[in-house]
Amino acid sequence: MNILICNDYEEMSKKAANMIAAQLIVKPDSVLGLATGGTPTLMYRELVRLYKEGVVDFSKMTSFNLDEYYPIQKSSPRSYYDYMRINLFDHVNIRQGESHIPNGEASDPHKECKEYDEMINACGGIDLQLLGIGGNGHIGFNEPGEYFEMGTHLVNLNEETKEANARFFEEGEEVPTKALSMGIGNIMNAKKILLIANGTEKADAIYDMIHGKISPKLPASILQLHRDVTVILDKDAASKFMFS
Ligand code: PGA
Repeated sequence: MNILICNDYEEMSKKAANMIAAQLIVKPDSVLGLATGGTPTLMYRELVRLYKEGVVDFSKMTSFNLDEYYPIQKSSPRSYYDYMRINLFDHVNIRQGESHIPNGEASDPHKECKEYDEMINACGGIDLQLLGIGGNGHIGFNEPGEYFEMGTHLVNLNEETKEANARFFEEGEEVPTKALSMGIGNIMNAKKILLIANGTEKADAIYDMIHGKISPKLPASILQLHRDVTVILDKDAASKFMFS
């Protein structure tokens, strides 16, 4: 693993945006795996800035998002569909129909998952996969468990994840209990992986991801076996790892 430790969230976001921009400059028709959540918001803002400055072009790329709540309407302001529109897709020249997100409105979630995997394969797989990490070590919504799920699948979100997600919902609003998520196989098949994390609440998971036993109980630990992973952290997320 190539590990970069930044002074703060802003530096982490800029470095991550630069890596995605570099990928698109070198291979304009890249297939990107994209992530949502609190961590990448500033990184997306930075990518939009690079696009507006003419540094990066999205017109030939294809993207696949890691996950989506299930069930959820695309129009819901809590959907990852809406998140991607607001944070990236509305501001750059990505082609219509080339940005894929698991469909939270699908009537048959298992069929949706199978078709999602088929679409990723038909595009030749993912060139660069962006990941955040949960405080419990999840990547995508691959929750700690007894085995690694390979393909896109329907997930029961665990209590820690629901609590972490609750910050994006109004009081009294129901926090989704399920999601559609790419599996560990989809992630590990990506040619390159970029994982970003900030804040002390991620420090334990980062430590275990790098130094822990490889186990589905800490899904991110599987990344120790991938040949091309870059981890970009702020000082807080790196705090346990740095001083161990
Ligand atoms: P966050 O989520 O960026 O909102 O902290 C990351 C994750 O759960 O993968």
